[in-house]
Amino acid sequence: MSDNNATLTVGGDTKDYAVMDGTVGPQVIDVRKLYANTGMFTYDPGFTSTASCESGLTYIDGDAGILLHRGYPIGQLAEESSFMEVCYLLLNGELPSQKELEDFTTTITRHTMVHEQLSAFFRGFRRDAHPMAIMVGVVGALSAFYHDSTDINDPEQRRIASHRLIAKMPTIAAMAYKYSVGQPFVYPRNDLSYTANFLRMTFSVPAEDYIPDPVIVDAMDKIFILHADHEQNASTSTVRLAGSSGANPFACIAAGIACLWGPAHGGANEAALNMLREIGTVDRIPEYIARAKNKDDPFRLMGFGHRVYKNYDPRATVMQKTAKDVLEKLGVNDPVFDVAKELEQIALNDPYFVEKKLYPNVDFYSGVILSAIGFPTEMFTVLFALARTVGWVAQWNEMISDPAQKIGRPRQLYTGPTQRDYVGVDKR
Ligand code: SDX
Repeated sequence: MSDNNATLTVGGDTKDYAVMDGTVGPQVIDVRKLYANTGMFTYDPGFTSTASCESGLTYIDGDAGILLHRGYPIGQLAEESSFMEVCYLLLNGELPSQKELEDFTTTITRHTMVHEQLSAFFRGFRRDAHPMAIMVGVVGALSAFYHDSTDINDPEQRRIASHRLIAKMPTIAAMAYKYSVGQPFVYPRNDLSYTANFLRMTFSVPAEDYIPDPVIVDAMDKIFILHADHEQNASTSTVRLAGSSGANPFACIAAGIACLWGPAHGGANEAALNMLREIGTVDRIPEYIARAKNKDDPFRLMGFGHRVYKNYDPRATVMQKTAKDVLEKLGVNDPVFDVAKELEQIALNDPYFVEKKLYPNVDFYSGVILSAIGFPTEMFTVLFALARTVGWVAQWNEMISDPAQKIGRPRQLYTGPTQRDYVGVDKR
């Protein structure tokens, strides 16, 4: 608690509200007694000024472009850690010892297979179904297969469900891709790392095995780290709200996947690459910059802007460097990357973007890398969901374990009709 309060006078009645300190970042005003004291609600559509919970997982300073996971800067984790190690860190709060990391990795590896009956589930989809539609359906269906880890009040069942979700997302994501291209599913292999296993399940075919290129494995692992968690973003808030009703973890993560799909959120990586391809050449950039600034045009620069970052998204910095490294090492000369870099330069020097503090976000460059690796654009948000699952699961566990946790139930400002009597259709 802070030693100062916030004082609010409503209708001549003055009340103090406690100001609470975090370890770093903005203080909060505890308004939990506001309605009881004043009969009024706060009003904050989009939650631009609302803290929905207390969390120790991820800290973002949008003005300074800082992103910390359990205190460790994202740039250091991306350069020096691994996705498995970041998963352990997010779930447990500390970096693992070598043995802890080995044991955790072995546990996750041994959960990578899915129930064989689940593969029949895919048959119900059209081959051209968007893979995110498949992910929402199949991940939600996991609760029909793993009844023994759906009791949210049992910490051991929560632990197993968490491991199952982190482990099975790559398998299901690869299956969604295979189904969309009409190739047979590829089983996971326990002798491969988490990320190499995913790449092999995605790109291997019975006629020819796929030996993951260490360059691509490293880039993919970095991309997973960059997407692991991000404070109370829309999909994480969706997972928390679903979980607050006591829904099982598989249903909660399916809800998170559904929310992530939106183009304003995780769907932006697919939309950003489609936009860059539509622009096509550097000389057409001014036309699109003008459209983005035109209030009468709904077009926005996908991969630009962020609710929290009003400075450069630190993940975009790593992503741009990774894109350059991957394209060089793979010998890929993708003109889209040149368009992206030029678009960034033009936008960052344009008063509209400078004034509104619009910078590239995590989704601006990721598509360039994923496309170079061989993923179709429809798979980009699936990869975001794959990586974000550890963040969703860690936030869900934190919420469930919070003794102050209650079911989330916001109120509203009602602007509809006041009470009126029903009129029969013969009198209307
Ligand atoms: C992710 O929350 C997270 O942490 C999400 C995420 C995560 O890791 O979980 O970081 C992942 O979702 C990244 C964001 C990906 N989305 C996009 O790239 C889509 C394009 N960006 C925008 O739609 C927008 O910037 C948002 C949705 C990201 C943020 O929207 P806000 O905070 O609600 O801001 P806003 O829409 O009110 O925009 C503020 C102003 C507006 O102009 P005015 O009405 O004030 O005149 O900036 C303009 C907007 O018109 N603006 C843009 C723009 N983004 C905002 N103008 C042109 N192009 C854009 N991209």
